[in-house]
Amino acid sequence: MEPASSIFKPMTSDRVRTLFNRIAPVYDQLNTWLSLGQHRIWKQMTVKWSGAKAGDTCLDVCCGSGDLALLLAQAVGASGRVMGIDFAAEQLAIAQQRSQQHYPVPPLTWLEGDALALPFADHEFDAATMGYGLRNVTDIPRSLKELHRVLKPHAKAAILDFHRPSNAQIRALQQWYLDAIVVPAAQQFGLTEEYAYIAPSLDRFPTGAEQVTLARQAGFVSATHYPIAGGTMGVLVVMK
Ligand SMILES: C[S@@+](CC[C@H](N)C(=O)[O-])C[C@H]1O[C@@H](n2cnc3c(N)ncnc32)[C@H](O)[C@@H]1O
Repeated sequence: MEPASSIFKPMTSDRVRTLFNRIAPVYDQLNTWLSLGQHRIWKQMTVKWSGAKAGDTCLDVCCGSGDLALLLAQAVGASGRVMGIDFAAEQLAIAQQRSQQHYPVPPLTWLEGDALALPFADHEFDAATMGYGLRNVTDIPRSLKELHRVLKPHAKAAILDFHRPSNAQIRALQQWYLDAIVVPAAQQFGLTEEYAYIAPSLDRFPTGAEQVTLARQAGFVSATHYPIAGGTMGVLVVMK
């Protein structure tokens, strides 16, 4: 285990991958407890805002254990296709198990790969999602450029992540929640450091307005950041 001070530094890709492989067995359970199930609603909103519809070919970047990709699969139906990509093999193994229970046949495919070098041709996807991934990639502008490259013209992507609220009281409440609820809950699973990294990663994460600027610089013709959950979360909706 790394010394505690290391959580304040930006992580390398290897460390991010190790972290997400290590938390894979408890990741879904902790998300559900810590958000009181709310993350499912935020993910449904994200899929809706991506514009995914029946018959579409869709991508979920940084898919982890597959929540958003599974919801995309419902949206596209049997005539559509969904690819989930992540570089943490342990997360993908859980995604694979979950999709076999719910969707024993295509449209879902899981791929081990890098969000910074997507293994797809240009203009391949009708819609895309990314959940809690943008804050974790080591190069946000490059990740947005890759997303832009693989989307078809006029296609949309919806990117869900934590956000620091502008309201000082809600901001303080969010910090208290991370320190007093999230970290002690993770401690029960021996994962203190893995969850203590959320607050410093959030401090480094661009604000909604900055995300909009980065998305425009990546080539998206429109970009809007929607604060949700009192501004403690946000969805960046972009269109190519
Ligand atoms: C917080 S998890 C989110 C998982 C899932 N999208 C969800 O909403 O539950 C972040 C995921 O991003 C993945 N990730 C981070 N950087 C990546 C990269 N460069 N390429 C692929 N996956 C990456 C991690 O492996 C991890 O599974």
